[in-house]
Amino acid sequence: MGQEYERVKAIEQRVFAPGVRRWPLALERGSGSRVWDVEGNEFIDLTAGWGVTVIGHCHPELVQAISDQASTLMQTTNVVYTRAQLDLAEHLDRITPDSIHRSFFVSSGAEANEGALKLAHRATGRSQFVATNNSFHGRTLGAMGVLGQAKYRERWSPIIREARFIPYGNLEAAGNAIDETVAAIILEPIQGEGGVNVPPDGYLEGVAAVCRAVGAKLILDEIQTGIGRTGRWLAREHSGVVPDIITLGKGLGGGIPIAAFMANEEIMQSIEPGDHGGTYAGNPLCCRAAATVLKVLEDDNLIQRAADLGESVMARLHNLVEQNPDHLEAVRGKGLLIGLVFSNSAVAANVHLSLRERGILVNLTAERVLRIFPALNIPEDELDQALGMLEDEIQSA
Ligand SMILES: Cc1ncc(COP(=O)(O)O)c(C=O)c1O
Repeated sequence: MGQEYERVKAIEQRVFAPGVRRWPLALERGSGSRVWDVEGNEFIDLTAGWGVTVIGHCHPELVQAISDQASTLMQTTNVVYTRAQLDLAEHLDRITPDSIHRSFFVSSGAEANEGALKLAHRATGRSQFVATNNSFHGRTLGAMGVLGQAKYRERWSPIIREARFIPYGNLEAAGNAIDETVAAIILEPIQGEGGVNVPPDGYLEGVAAVCRAVGAKLILDEIQTGIGRTGRWLAREHSGVVPDIITLGKGLGGGIPIAAFMANEEIMQSIEPGDHGGTYAGNPLCCRAAATVLKVLEDDNLIQRAADLGESVMARLHNLVEQNPDHLEAVRGKGLLIGLVFSNSAVAANVHLSLRERGILVNLTAERVLRIFPALNIPEDELDQALGMLEDEIQSA
């Protein structure tokens, strides 16, 4: 590691809360799908800033829009109307199912899920939630109550209200758990942090039918899967399921912190002034950024690109799995949310580390799943270069 990295690290050790397990890397600059560290080393970012920079780092149109808005109006109280907020809400109305046309904006995915849970409680008068094992919904107290990974949740259990947890993808378990006491089940259409788990065909529609039968609500957490990531605006479109509430975040702002919960008319009408909000809820700067991200995705046809590119990456990785049955078990995902499943977590960790040393940033989740979720406009040659290195590393593992 270079001197500047050591200097940055020493500052962190002195003044920053120790609650982050950092990579030995200090980034300074990004452009498209490349980022540079404080020593000037270049990396290809297959994490897109953790599923966020869907149109790449520092996209010129986004930079321009943020800069224009920053010099026009950055912040107001949420008790006034702003055009930026309503422009974004109108745009989101066009990409969600017909029944879902009302939005509320917040600053992070966890807050969007908080809003969704509160909304389901308001709409039903019920207090029980159902969630799935291995899910991830954020780290506020409410969101952790539905977070299906014990490692994040357990130590907080005295101060959170835990959901009823069921196996993901198992419709029978959903049928048994969702009854007349349940306000909502919260589901990711594909589990991201949990290891890129794709549910069986018919699962999401089946859960929706169970919910309808007992008056419970279906919340789809599209914070990671939405905004084109899986090759459709929303991952729900792969199945056609129509949820009652949708949450969005990550890619929505392309790097500016904004998230949303959206619901159908009946449910959104159950919310009362003061039920949910925040100083930055729907801040004009964030809303303008999000509207620009949606526009660039549309203008550049990036969602279809994610579908096409995702298919070719998956085909290439399927070959890799076939050629390396000792180390690899499977490849799964949709669009540009792809998980390569290793047989062994130590080998996965070594490959992950070697790739970073060679200038490729990728995520290792669920211990042995290499998650590839780049910008939807990553240049093909950069992706090809990164996958070539991944192939080398696995062949020599
Ligand atoms: C599916 C899902 N929901 C919620 C969250 C939480 O979002 P945030 O970190 O913005 O609070 C995440 C973050 O990884 C996520 O992947």
